[in-house]
Amino acid sequence: MAIGLDDVVATETALSDVDGLAGRLIIRGHSLDELAGRVRFEELAALLLDGAFDGPVSAARIGRARAEIYFSLEKRIPALMHLPVFGAVRAAIAELPDDGSLETALLLLAAPAVLTPALLRVRAGLPALEPDPRLPHAADILRMLRGHLPADASVHALDTYLVTVADHGLNASTFAARVVASTQAGLTSAALAALGALKGPLHGGAPGPVLDMLDEVGSAERAEAVLVAILERGERLMGFGHRIYRVRDPRADALKAALAGMRRNERLTLALAVEETALRLLRAKKPDRRLETNVEFYTALLLDALGFPRDAFTAVFAMGRMAGWIAHAREQAAGGRLIRPRSIYVGPMPREVA
Ligand code: ACO
Repeated sequence: MAIGLDDVVATETALSDVDGLAGRLIIRGHSLDELAGRVRFEELAALLLDGAFDGPVSAARIGRARAEIYFSLEKRIPALMHLPVFGAVRAAIAELPDDGSLETALLLLAAPAVLTPALLRVRAGLPALEPDPRLPHAADILRMLRGHLPADASVHALDTYLVTVADHGLNASTFAARVVASTQAGLTSAALAALGALKGPLHGGAPGPVLDMLDEVGSAERAEAVLVAILERGERLMGFGHRIYRVRDPRADALKAALAGMRRNERLTLALAVEETALRLLRAKKPDRRLETNVEFYTALLLDALGFPRDAFTAVFAMGRMAGWIAHAREQAAGGRLIRPRSIYVGPMPREVA
């Protein structure tokens, strides 16, 4: 029995492969090292959805989808303001058409990218900004958040982030999307299931708590004492460990490189000290199991440096991962079998059987 489905093969996919022993992520024939920092998110989305960088999923179509989302969901924003950002994005997405078309796929791709900055601005008492369909996706997201055109280094960092998290094998949220797609429900239903799975702190909900942990540490000299106390409480060090990677998470490296292109801030200096201490403590705690830095550690630093508040980090993750979810849902719906595993019953038996 494989509790947690460790090492269970549930499907075939032509989309991505996570090689945990080599620390390598392959997306449709390209390693992440070839892609991160080199291609735009729109090209990566086209690669995932069309199989080529220059297919029908073009930057222009994604730009038009951003505008369409804004004009169809803009009026809903005030009614969603009582929800946390992630919940509001999810609630708005639930209103999209639920079919398998490329048009719906593009709307889903655009939705978190448009809704997250709009919700954040309205929450800050500022007017939401219309998308500019002519701008690159990452540049437009930052412009809608900040109200002005961002510097190239920021655009490059966000683009690198979105590419880095766009797909990652059969992770929990992608599996959730495939389960729903296997019932032939629409793409929006699959995306909603994935959003639910992403939210948890063991998956896409970790980066906010990474910053909480850094705040608790406060200064490099306190790192050892605070991290030891966290471990002694039986809690986990957020941003470390991974189910599949047994060496370093290549996505952490891609994001660390993107951060290096931005201005070094105090938090980054602290984070480097915390990372070093955490890895040493985890090696001592679990000598038989490599617990390395995962994508969420540097995600927290990068999104913080870009000006996203920590309660919006998971929604920003969804901006990138949506491309993978939709590609997997379409692949599953096109050729997959209904996913229906079994369980072992350990409850009481009715009297006549016992
Ligand atoms: N801090 C302290 N101990 C840890 C950590 C950690 N970050 N990660 C694993 N361990 C320990 C566990 O306590 C466990 O110890 P035990 O055997 O004494 O009980 C052992 O290592 C194995 O842990 P599992 O939970 O079985 O490992 P799993 O493969 O299920 O965990 C996970 C992977 C969930 C990511 C885990 O490492 C974790 O909780 N990390 C912190 C949260 C985090 O960073 N999440 C983001 C993941 S990346 C992403 O989803 C995009």
